Amino acid sequence: MKNLIIAVVVLLPSLSFADAKAKAAQCAACHGAEGVSGAPIWPNLAGQKKDYLVKQMKDFKSGARKDPLMSPQAAMLSDADIADLAAYFSGLKCGK
Ligand code: HEC
Repeated sequence: MKNLIIAVVVLLPSLSFADAKAKAAQCAACHGAEGVSGAPIWPNLAGQKKDYLVKQMKDFKSGARKDPLMSPQAAMLSDADIADLAAYFSGLKCGK
């Protein structure tokens, strides 16, 4: 039983990381595969503060922040998606 608990504790973070990476694939068209955007008016997400990313995505979702490209993206995200994606992008290095 103790080994099972250890296995779950060790595996969970890597599972949610892989999950976030899969979710991030739909962001890559605009924000880049590694969170570094290819267009001057699209923001980089790599290395950005996690709490800031969470706030921006929630603001897009609620309508407090609006953008014709980004608002529909945020509308599709659950709170769990937002937390996963913010953790994922904030952990990437910018400027690679
Ligand atoms: C169709 C293009 C497009 C896609 C796909 C897209 N975004 Fe965006 N996103 C934008 C644009 C454009 C902005 C900047 C909006 C503005 O100027 O206010 C933005 C802004 C953001 C911001 C705020 C960044 C900041 O520095 O304030 C976050 C966070 C974000 N996007 C996350 C995501 C995530 C996570 C996904 C995938 C689920 C995603 N975006 C998919 C176009 C896109």
